[in-house]
Amino acid sequence: MISKNIAIIGGGNLGSSIAKGLVKSGLMQANQITITNLELELIQHLKDEDGFNITTNNIEAIEGAGIVIIAVKPTVARGLLAQLNETLVSGDHVVISVISGIKIDDLEGFLGQMPIIRAMPNTAIAIQESMTALSFNEKGLQYKKEVVEIFDQLGSTMIIPESQMPAATVLASCGIAFALRFLRAASQGGIEIGFSSKLSQEIAAQIMKGASKLIIENNSHPEPEIDKVTTPLGVTIKSLNKMEYEGFSSSLIQGVVAGYNKILETES
Ligand SMILES: NC(=O)c1ccc[n+]([C@@H]2O[C@H](COP(=O)([O-])OP(=O)(O)OC[C@H]3O[C@@H](n4cnc5c(N)ncnc54)[C@H](OP(=O)(O)O)[C@@H]3O)[C@@H](O)[C@H]2O)c1
Repeated sequence: MISKNIAIIGGGNLGSSIAKGLVKSGLMQANQITITNLELELIQHLKDEDGFNITTNNIEAIEGAGIVIIAVKPTVARGLLAQLNETLVSGDHVVISVISGIKIDDLEGFLGQMPIIRAMPNTAIAIQESMTALSFNEKGLQYKKEVVEIFDQLGSTMIIPESQMPAATVLASCGIAFALRFLRAASQGGIEIGFSSKLSQEIAAQIMKGASKLIIENNSHPEPEIDKVTTPLGVTIKSLNKMEYEGFSSSLIQGVVAGYNKILETES
C-alpha cells in the first residue's frame, strides 16, 4: 500500500495549484503534502499561508511520500530525473509527471520500471476546473483509481492512450488561452458598442460560463443551442455569418492544428 502523502517536486504555478486544489477539495490535508523548490523563499508563502511542508531537499520530500508529482519545466526535467532515480522505488512510490513533452518511455528510461502516470492538466486546476488527461504505464494502471480520484477533485479527468497526449496538450491545456482570447475579443467588441471595459469583460466571462454549462449540463451539442438563438432575419445570425465570413471557426481549427503540428515537432 502506497503512503497517501504527496511530494510535489517543483512548487511553481502548476505544482502549487495542484497542492491548493487538493486541500480545497478536502481530499488531503496540507500537512500531508510536501512541496519542493530550489529556493525556499519562493515557496515560503505556501507554508505560512497554507500550512504545506516545504523543503529544498527533493530526496527528503520523496522519502516521506507515496505519490510523487513532478512539476518542473521540461528544460530542467532530465537532470532532475537522473538525480531522483535512486530514491524513487517501485512498490513505495507512484510517479505522476505533469512535464510537457516527456514521454512515459523516457521517464522509464530515467526511473526504471515503476508506476508512472503522465498527467496533462491546465491552469484552471487552481480553481478545481481543470480538464486533465491521464496516461498510465503498465505498472501505473494498478493505481488508476487513486490517481483518477486525485485529478477528479481538481476538475474533469479523461484517460487517453499516450499517443493522444500531444492533442490533449493543445486542446485541453493550451485551450485555456484560446478560450481567453475569445473572451478578450468579445469584450473588446462590447466596448465598441458601448460597455465599460469592466462590464464588457464581466458579460463575456458570464456568457462563456453559461454556454459551457449549457453543453456540459444538458449533454448537448453547440448547434442545437445556437439554433435556439438564431431567429430568421435576426441579429444573431447576422453577427455569426459575418464572423464566419471573417474566418472565425476556420481560424480556431487552424490554430489548434498548428499547435498540434508544433508539438509533434518538439516531441519527436
Ligand atoms: N502551467 C500549466 O498550466 C501547465 C499545464 C500542463 C503542463 N504543465 C507543465 O508543468 C510543468 C510545470 O509548469 P509550471 O508552469 O508550474 O512551471 P513553473 O512555474 O516554472 O514551476 C516549476 C518550478 O520548479 C522549480 N524547480 C526547478 N528545478 C527544480 C528542482 N531541481 N527541484 C525542485 N524544484 C525545481 C522552479 O524553480 P525556479 O523558478 O527557481 O527555477 C519552479 O518554481 C512544466 O513541465 C509544464 O510544461 C504546465
